Amino acid sequence: MHASLRALTDELKRLKASGVKSLAVSEDSLARLRTAVAARTPAAAPPPAGSTRPEAPVTVPEYRAPVRTFAAKPVPPPESPLPAPVPFTLPDGDKAARWAALRDRILGDPVCRAQVRPGKQVVFGVGSLEAKIMFVGEAPGAEEEVQGEPFVGPAGQLLTKMINGMGLKREEVYIGNIMNWRPAMPADERGVQYGNRPPTAPELAYCLPYLKAQIEVVNPGLLVALGATAAQGLLGADAFKALGEIRGQWREFAGRPLMVTYHPSYILRNQSNRSKRLIWEDLLKVMERASLPVSEKQRGFFLDRG
Ligand code: URA
Repeated sequence: MHASLRALTDELKRLKASGVKSLAVSEDSLARLRTAVAARTPAAAPPPAGSTRPEAPVTVPEYRAPVRTFAAKPVPPPESPLPAPVPFTLPDGDKAARWAALRDRILGDPVCRAQVRPGKQVVFGVGSLEAKIMFVGEAPGAEEEVQGEPFVGPAGQLLTKMINGMGLKREEVYIGNIMNWRPAMPADERGVQYGNRPPTAPELAYCLPYLKAQIEVVNPGLLVALGATAAQGLLGADAFKALGEIRGQWREFAGRPLMVTYHPSYILRNQSNRSKRLIWEDLLKVMERASLPVSEKQRGFFLDRG
């Protein structure tokens, strides 16, 4: 167990050095970690032979798994490089037919499929083909690769609330990612991956044409990049150093206005009204540009800067 804990610590150090800022840990793994740590805690050591000192109770602090976060820093490329994306042309036909053909192509792409673990899914965009607004995130996480749909985990539930706050239903917008699979990280002995990392340049280069094709088919009037990695994926790695430099500003991608804002996971980590207001102000700009009605109530959301 000692060796396993040391191996775990080494792996965590390696991940930290490669830019990973936090990991999601399953309850099951936590329980096993608690047991291992408790076994090593001095207070848990048996009293010396002959001692009458009662064994001190072991208290292991309650651990709350951090929410999924995204590091904007690039990580070293995977050992086996990906092939260059194979050019493709969208078929003729109406939107629904073109979208279905694109979905079949992406879900059946052998390169994409080779990146997902057994039982997990390649993830394609979801939403209305008549959407005026397309939200673009980073990459599927644990829940998304199981359900095969973007933004269905905690960050996705918050994104849905944000969309509802704009007076829209989730089904009325389009939601996609710059990546079609969950970037791989080391997994446990059962093949379960707990952490997330941003995509590498080859991964992004492979998937970006698929996002562009979705933009072409859906033809939204506006794009919203959620978080630094999505924004850098669309605008280029050198477009900015810190998201704060460009969030709330209009940029352009694929010939249409692009609003850059925070990723919903930022709000999950910073639950203050001040943080919520920042992202909300960006969404107000999106609503105005999309000619959506904005009520006085909506204008005032999160103004109580608690
Ligand atoms: N975060 C993203 O950026 N995309 C998802 O699909 C889920 C979480």
